[in-house]
This record gives sequence, C-alpha cells and structure tokens, in this order.
Amino acid sequence: MIQHNDYTDLLKNNQLWAAEKLKTDPEYFDELAKPQKPRFLFIGCSDSRIPLDLITESEPGEIFVHRNIANQVNFTDLNLLSIIEYAIEILNIGDIIVLGHYKCGGVKAAVDGLDTEDIVENWVSPISDLYHFHRRELEELGDKTKMLDRLSEMNVIAQLKNLLRTPIIQRAFRSNKKIYFHGWIFDINTGLIKDLPLPLQEWKGYDLLPDDY
Ligand code: CO
Repeated sequence: MIQHNDYTDLLKNNQLWAAEKLKTDPEYFDELAKPQKPRFLFIGCSDSRIPLDLITESEPGEIFVHRNIANQVNFTDLNLLSIIEYAIEILNIGDIIVLGHYKCGGVKAAVDGLDTEDIVENWVSPISDLYHFHRRELEELGDKTKMLDRLSEMNVIAQLKNLLRTPIIQRAFRSNKKIYFHGWIFDINTGLIKDLPLPLQEWKGYDLLPDDY
C-alpha cells in the first residue's frame, strides 16, 4: 500500500505531475494562478487515508480546506475560525462540509484514552463528553466497532452544531447569506461517503438556523 518511502519520491512525482499538466493544457498553471474561487469549505480529520481531492475527484481550486484530529469545531481554534471567516466573508462559500470517518483514531482515543498523548486526549475531550452523554444508546449497539462508528457520526453532527453557534455563521445568517451545511462520513471499508441526515428542526428550535433554511 505504501508506495513512497523516500521524500524525494514525492518531489520527483511533483515534477512529473506538473509536466503532465502542461502537456495536456499549456495554460493550466496560468489558470490556477488566478485568485481562488472555491465553492466548498471542507472541515475534516487529518487522517492520511482521506485524500478529499481523490475521493471526490475534485481539482485544485475547488475546495477550501481545514483539517484537524477528529474534525473538531473548537471555539478556541483561531486557525479554524479564521478559515470560516475568510470562507464566508471573502470567498463567499455557500456550502460547508464537515467530514468525519469510520475507524477514526481521534474518536477511539476519546473513548479508550491514551497512555501518554495527553495533548491529543485534551483535544478530543468534547468527543469523550459526547460518548458519556450518549453512553446508554451507544452501548446498546453491543459491538465496539459499531459503537465507535456511531460516535463518529454523532461527532460530525455535534461539530456542525458548534459551527452554527459561531458568531461568524450567525452574522452571515443575519445578513441573509445562504450557507448550506453538510455532515458526511467517509466509510474507509467501502470508499464511499455517507451524507448524514441533519437535525434541522432541532437546530431551528434553538434558533441556530433561519426559518427559511
Ligand atoms: Co480521524
């Protein structure tokens, strides 16, 4: 599975890629060098098995990206908040996707704990909270893998809710910007993305979404 053992392989591949692009389209990089106009903001897990461009066959320039361990929307994360602000205020992005995945190490760490990686444990502590809050429902699934998979889905929904609670998003709604939210799960076992149902009525009930969403 691992095809490149040496970092120089990556640099060689880059040269081949750039040459190939020029061969098929001599203006490819002139186009790419223009200001970006991505349609989508993607917030995903850092896991190396989820190369979004490949699994959605999207091209450079199409997706504005933020990734962190276990796709968290954390209110103290200035990096993420800057990205959301830039995506909405400058790029006018209308679709925000939070993408989690099955077999997520961050979700597992939130349930099982880690021995030494205490910073990671801190980072995923909102997922631990989610786990304890839904513990009964999760344990009824009877199987650890199913339980972690379900928790990964719950995590996506919880992070979307956090996103809606940010002042940036609420300000965008007040100025009547149309922004649509998507909760996806990448199933590593099949290569397929699941589009999760979102609790829109519940969120409207909390005044997190405009009535005409
Ligand atoms: Co993950």
